[in-house]
Order: sequence, then C-alpha cells, then structure tokens
Amino acid sequence: MNRIAWLLLAFLLPLAAAAGPAAPAAHPPGAAVASAHHLATEAGIEILRQGGNAFDAAVAVSGVLSVVEPISSGLGGGGMWLLHDGKTGRDVFVDGRETAPAAATPDKFLDARGDLDPQRAQNGPWSAGIPGLPALLVHVAEKYGRLPLRQSLAPAIRIAREGFPVYARMARGYAAKRQVMDRYPGTRAVFSPNGKPIREGQVFRQPDLAATLERLAAQGFDGFYRGTTARHLVAGVNAAGGQWTLDELAGYRVREREPIHFRYHDWTITTAPLPSSGGIALAQMLQILAPYDLEAMPEAERVHMVVESMRRAFRDRTFYLGDPDFVKIPQRLLLSPDYAAGLRAGIDPDKATPSDLLSGQPTPLEDEETTHFSIIDADGNRVAATQTVNLLFGSGLIPPGTGVLLNDEMDDFALKPGTPNAFGVMGYEANAPKPGKRMLSSMTPTFMESRDKVVALGTPGGSRIITMVLLGILGYDAGLDAQQVAALPRYHHQWLPDVIDAEPGAISAQAAQALQAMGHRIDLPPDEAAGGRGSSHVWGNLQTVEWDRRANALRGGSDPRNPEGKATVLAQP
Ligand code: GLY
Repeated sequence: MNRIAWLLLAFLLPLAAAAGPAAPAAHPPGAAVASAHHLATEAGIEILRQGGNAFDAAVAVSGVLSVVEPISSGLGGGGMWLLHDGKTGRDVFVDGRETAPAAATPDKFLDARGDLDPQRAQNGPWSAGIPGLPALLVHVAEKYGRLPLRQSLAPAIRIAREGFPVYARMARGYAAKRQVMDRYPGTRAVFSPNGKPIREGQVFRQPDLAATLERLAAQGFDGFYRGTTARHLVAGVNAAGGQWTLDELAGYRVREREPIHFRYHDWTITTAPLPSSGGIALAQMLQILAPYDLEAMPEAERVHMVVESMRRAFRDRTFYLGDPDFVKIPQRLLLSPDYAAGLRAGIDPDKATPSDLLSGQPTPLEDEETTHFSIIDADGNRVAATQTVNLLFGSGLIPPGTGVLLNDEMDDFALKPGTPNAFGVMGYEANAPKPGKRMLSSMTPTFMESRDKVVALGTPGGSRIITMVLLGILGYDAGLDAQQVAALPRYHHQWLPDVIDAEPGAISAQAAQALQAMGHRIDLPPDEAAGGRGSSHVWGNLQTVEWDRRANALRGGSDPRNPEGKATVLAQP
C-alpha cells in the first residue's frame, strides 16, 4: 500500500468505527422516575420540569410519599438514600436511619416474665426511634440539590393541605391497625376527623402535617428538630407514656457513608453499607453465585444454589451485623470473595443444608411495609431511595399538632437476643439497642452499572428486601428490562425459618418436587403446592429505572403488585 492509501485508511477508519455499533451514550436523553404512588412520581417530574436535578426530585418524591403513603414511610421515620453525582462520578450513601432514644433500654421491651413484649416493640411511644427522614431531606437539598427546599417540598405541602383520595391498600392497612391508632388522640384527630374513620375514596386532608412540612421547608433542620415541631413531638410522646427529650431531637445527625461496591459478572454493584444489612448480604450472595451460569442451569438446580446463598448470608446477618458506629464488625472478611468461596464450598449441589446445622431457632414470617423510589436525570445523576416507618403505619402514634406519624423502628433492634422481630429475623449483641445507636436495617437501595446499562432499584419488604433486590439483579443480568424486573415472581429464604417462601409462578411444580427431594421445605401458593403448606400472598413493591446506554433509552419499572405505583420517562426535562 502506498503512502496515500495509508493516509486515507487512517482517516477513514475512525469514521467507519463511528458508523458501526453505537458507542455508549455519555448522558441520558431525559429523566425517569419510578415510585410507589403516582402523585409522588408526578411531583418528581414537576420538580425536574422546574429545573431541579434528580436530588431535588427525590426530595419532592419523598415529601409526597410521606403525605400519601403514611402506611409505609414519613417524616416520623427514616430513610437510606444512595446518590450518584453524574458530574464527579461519586456515589454516596446518605443514612437517615432513626436512632434509639436514651431511655429505650432493653428492659423497657420485656414483660413481667422477661419475654419480649411485641406490643411495646411494635406499637406506641416506646417503639419509636428518633426520626431521621426530615434531616435527610434537608441534607440532600442543601448539599446536592439546585432548588430551595421550599420549592421541592411544595407539592407535598399542597397535597397535605388539599388532600388526596384514600386508596384500597391504605384503607385496608388502616382497618388492620385502627385498634392501635385509635388509642392516641393525635392519631384519631387525623384518621377519624369528626369522629368518622377514613374510608376508601374519601379525600384525606392533613393540615397539621402541611404546617409541619412548611416549618421544615422554611427553617430546614431547626424547623423540625427544634422549636414548635420538636416541642409538640416530645410532649406527644411523653403524654402517651414514652420518654423523649428535646436534646435528643436537636442532637440527631444524618451520616454520609461510603457505599459497598463489588463486581458481579459485567456489572459494578453499588449498594447499602451498614447499618443496613442489605449490601453485605447482597455481596455475599452474588459472590457465592458468580461462578455459575444460572441461566443455563435446570430450574431446580438454579433455585437451590440461590436459596443456599440466601441461607448463608442471612445466617451471618444474625450474628455479625449492627451499627458500625457502635460495634466492630468483620466487614472486610464478610465482603471478601475468598470468604464467599468458602461459603460456596460448603454447599452440596444435590442437597439442602439444614439451617439447624448452621444453628438457630425457627421463626415466623410476617408482613412488610416501607417504600422505595428510583430516579435518573439528564445529567446522569441518580437516586435509589428506600424509606420507612417500619410496620404498617409505624407506631400508630401521632403527637398532637404535628400530623407526624411516628415509626416503630425499635423493633428492628435485637431487643431480646435470639428472639425474632416482626420480620422473623433476630440478632445478638451487635444489634442490641444503645442510646443514639441505629437499628440494623434491610433497606437495600442499589445501583448496577455496566458498559451498556445503568440501573437504580430497590423495594420495601422487611428482610425480603434483600432477596428481592438479589432476584432483580439476576433479572437484569439475564437481560430483562425494568418493567420485567419489577414484575418477576419472587422466592425467599432467610436461614430461619428453614423454608423457601414462593409467590405464584416463582417455582414450577416440577422444580418444587425436585427441591423437596433435595431436602428443601417449600411454602408454595396452594395451586402449585404439590404437598406444600400453601401461601397465597405476594410481596414487595419494586421501583426501578434503567438507562440503556447503547440505545440511549430510558425505561422505568413499577411493581404491578401495587396499582398506585407509576414509572414515568421524561424526554426533555
Ligand atoms: N424497617 C425495615 C428495615 O429497615 O429493614
């Protein structure tokens, strides 16, 4: 080839490459929001249209969820948000988890015989930790947002004042918790206005909550943790028989933490660090599973390996995990691929490992609450946010004059060592309550990144959050899109009780038989029971967004189990 031909080739080759398969896009073509309530998703979109970034939109979505989903989360609870800054590439985990009040020592939760009193742990003033979500909102707005807090919280204030229609899930939850909620005058005033309990379809207004949100929007941290709101909160808790102080509220602090990062196949996974157990458990499970081609395995073999990874991660959760500001945790060991290899080596490919060989007590499974939303904006900023008041309507207690329904997060501590909490998980010294300590969580807001795709996902569901996020990651890895991942049928194992719980369609009857022959106990829905005990429930409310960088397309996935949820893609914010 002569000199001119070489020069031509050198000039044409880059052009040919550019015309070939599209290079991954550098920026998303718009924004996407997925949340558990359409009003919250719409508020996020409204704020993006006003020039807000993903972090402002997150404040708006969270604020509206606090108003329209009191069953799941709110200003009286806490949250764990994972943020990605599109410009710097930095990920940060913002920990707005509740803290234990100084007076809430373990003896306060025991009955006369020394047994755990679930009533005290799950209802009323002693069950509530010092709220973290308001401080989290202020922190994210001030440090990462573009808009003032009062602009991002405006949709929440408007909806609290003007009201929204009570939906079926909220009405059902209220019917289930009403007996507790009716004990407290502040709660009765909100949920039984004029002495009439709320009903499905009725417009539900919360003027006190609107005023509390306004003080927060105008004064930031001090608008909730000092002054009028703080005085009402302390007075209301103490009048109901609890013991909070103004100093405890004023002393609450959000923590920024380094997220957990690890590799799974072509993905970098970024997820929740302690005091959530989710990230460590996820890393253990996925590092156990990494060498297998799960998609190529027969169904029973695949479920067996996934369940065995779940069993081992939940066993370690029980013994080792708690608030890292208070206890020393062997995190480096638990996250190491070598440790995962050791756990993998202990799995018999043909036989279930009985959980009692890994030691422990059988425990019941209960229901699940909490909420999650996912956002990505046109600058590549991302939010995966999970927030909660713990169980259905939290503690059931609204301190009069605040509209703030307090959490019952104290139940997430190991209040009596080795005794299961409402989610059937238990703990020991690492998760014992101490003044100011954060209770261990399962919230697992997560990002996935490959050359071709960026994903944010998460879900409510107590201890099942972790296994739902695991199955979501496996779904994306198998090539599913956001909506397919949100809809995936689920199964769950948490070491104890030693049983696989499965949704309809999650495990075929044939695979269930094979798993039973391997020694697994399976709780299948009745129509697929094949001899199992039967369970008709479904669980979770997964909300996810994905940016396909090859097609430069955004997609959202909102869990079809929840009719109020909504995922929206905004082409040009
Ligand atoms: N309250 C549920 C959790 O944080 O795991």
